[in-house]
Amino acid sequence: MVEDICNDPFGSGFGSSKMTRRFKESSCKPGKPCHVYLTVSEDLRTSTVVIFHTAKPYNTKPSCKYGELSGDGYPNEVQGETYEIKFDSKRYIHYVGINQLTPNTDYKFICGESGETDDWSDEKQFRTSYNSLSDGKITFAVGADTNVIKETNQITEMMANNNPNFAAIAGDLALTNGNVHCYRKWDKWLSNWGKYAKSNNNLIPILPTIGNHETQTGYRKTEKPDTTIAPFFMTLFQHNSKIKKDPFTQKTYQVSRITDVIAFISLDTNHVYSEVEQEDWVEENLVKLRNEGVKYIFPIYHVPAFPSDRKFSVQQSLAIRESWVKLFDKHDITLAFEGHSHMLKVTKPIRDGLVVEQTQGTRYLGDGAWGRLRDRRDTTVTRWYEDHVDSIRHVWMVDVDEDNLTASAKNDKNEIQASIHY
Ligand SMILES: [Fe+2]
Repeated sequence: MVEDICNDPFGSGFGSSKMTRRFKESSCKPGKPCHVYLTVSEDLRTSTVVIFHTAKPYNTKPSCKYGELSGDGYPNEVQGETYEIKFDSKRYIHYVGINQLTPNTDYKFICGESGETDDWSDEKQFRTSYNSLSDGKITFAVGADTNVIKETNQITEMMANNNPNFAAIAGDLALTNGNVHCYRKWDKWLSNWGKYAKSNNNLIPILPTIGNHETQTGYRKTEKPDTTIAPFFMTLFQHNSKIKKDPFTQKTYQVSRITDVIAFISLDTNHVYSEVEQEDWVEENLVKLRNEGVKYIFPIYHVPAFPSDRKFSVQQSLAIRESWVKLFDKHDITLAFEGHSHMLKVTKPIRDGLVVEQTQGTRYLGDGAWGRLRDRRDTTVTRWYEDHVDSIRHVWMVDVDEDNLTASAKNDKNEIQASIHY
């Protein structure tokens, strides 16, 4: 009998069974941490979340030591929490939240078991964000629908060469449908990220958003929200430097502050939480951020409100327009980022369901072709809300300084395929 199957219909060659996994080398060996990565925390100026995996349990708490100098210069130490996830073999995921950092500063760090001297990670480094755009420009990457194929890595490498402060990914990362037997595919995704997503040796923090392929059911099927349908998304990422001991108690939506005038609001397009359930929270946070003087609030979510592949009338897009797009109109959102359609898309500026002048409406950029790609529609004929669509793998690279915002969709050769400017 074939047991514990990982189906992989996404062309990455990561289908497996318990038997085939048994004969392959372990994807997380004993010793030093097998993955070390960062997520964008609640405030990229002053905090970060370090996540690392080990194959062996710790007797004490996981810990990271950090400072502004290499070698012996780690004057600070902070402890975190561990979550054990049971695959064919045991895996310990350690989360360490670091806060009270200084903006616009390079930090070096190592992570391991508190009180032990062996098997700490190699030194890694990251950079906190500017407090103000008067200190310099912010660059970030946005894409979605990544997978673990070589084309994904080519786009990731291009992205990293643009030296972004962070990368936001609008869902469908490793494409495992929340199947725990596909853990090796996530290991591949994380090791690819470690290998290709480096900017001047700095780790590039990930701002991940949940998509349908993060969950076992695709979309919400239960009366109440159930985070256990997304076992990897919930346990591989934490989004706040105040670490949750049980990662499944996290929400699948969050606000991340980037500078004094830039924030991201990442949302769940009815995978664990429905659009309606997040509506009041979205409104409250848009009001709060505007009151705090945040000029650029970027919503990011997986399923597009203005799709470039599926029909405009599909229920999933309609629900987003009904719950959130009216709030984007009300609070004068400049750009929203979408995924899921596996195309390149730039909408016209839209307000109240109509095309308006750029200064009056929101443009929706997408649609998730970091690795996956769809080429089944005629891109020479555009829909009423589309400015530009194309079937090409890309990531949006966005530069924001005191006076300008430029978003450019770039292919694997760093060639601009579409660009908008404010
Ligand atoms: Fe999707």
